[in-house]
Amino acid sequence: MSKPRLESKVALITGAASGIGEAAARLFVEQGAYVVIADVQDELGRHVVDSIGPHRSSYIHCDVRDEKQVEDAVKHAIATYGGLHVLFSNAGVMGPLTSILEMDLQEFHHTMAVNVMGVATTIKYAARVMVERKIRGSIICTTSVTASVGGVGPHSYCASKHALLGIVRSAASELGKYGIRVNCVAPYAVATPLSCGLNNTDPSELEAGSCAMSNLKGVVLKSIHVAEAAMFLASEESAFISGHNLVVDGGFTVVNHSFSIYK
Ligand SMILES: NC(=O)c1ccc[n+]([C@@H]2O[C@H](COP(=O)([O-])OP(=O)(O)OC[C@H]3O[C@@H](n4cnc5c(N)ncnc54)[C@H](O)[C@@H]3O)[C@@H](O)[C@H]2O)c1
Repeated sequence: MSKPRLESKVALITGAASGIGEAAARLFVEQGAYVVIADVQDELGRHVVDSIGPHRSSYIHCDVRDEKQVEDAVKHAIATYGGLHVLFSNAGVMGPLTSILEMDLQEFHHTMAVNVMGVATTIKYAARVMVERKIRGSIICTTSVTASVGGVGPHSYCASKHALLGIVRSAASELGKYGIRVNCVAPYAVATPLSCGLNNTDPSELEAGSCAMSNLKGVVLKSIHVAEAAMFLASEESAFISGHNLVVDGGFTVVNHSFSIYK
């Protein structure tokens, strides 16, 4: 039997009560990790822990917009499992789809607060303990295809994911000297409460729509596919990969079918 890919690693995953984060929490534990599930949806988060098993996972309420709560979540990982090797900073919000002519600046601010400031705060506290404890850790953030192209998500969301990519590259530039890697996973559309909430779409309807528009045919993108990409970046298999935006999009962001010669 092959060795678990995250044997005895301690991982903090934000936004792990649902969707991609939840899939990652389950996968990381299956691969030998201890996982702290951090989210604002307490009931769902505790339910994930109950179903995984409380000996390898625990839940902490953490609103990533609140610096103290982020610091406490990192302290919780250290106090409970004795270290922190992986941060999967995945919590995010999408906000409504509105014209830029009607943009609600409060909503824009909220999206930036969660998707940019919130993630930056998690990197700050996770990296601090990794540096202090000389842990050659791995930090992974969830961007999106909207970090590379416009027109596939709300303006504030697109702006926030572009900004997030900047933080990842910048943090990678400073943290490399400590052996800490910082990368992103960038998913195409996955049916989760976040994406389905945009237009109140049923998951099967969202998947049908995203499959029709996707470049790669014959695969329906699920949370587990994104979790597997995050696990690769968390594991030693990606030992020399840092500052990278790993797109999980079947080629969506690099192929322009409106000008395609292969009809
Ligand atoms: N679903 C997609 O199509 C898609 C595509 C590209 C990127 N993403 C990104 O994937 C990540 C996960 O989203 P998902 O699709 O799994 O959606 P989801 O709604 O299933 O999960 C998002 C989680 O983040 C949590 N969250 C929201 N605000 C928070 C806050 N302030 N503090 C802590 N937790 C908070 C939510 O409670 C939820 O559990 C997000 O960053 C999202 O932008 C999703």
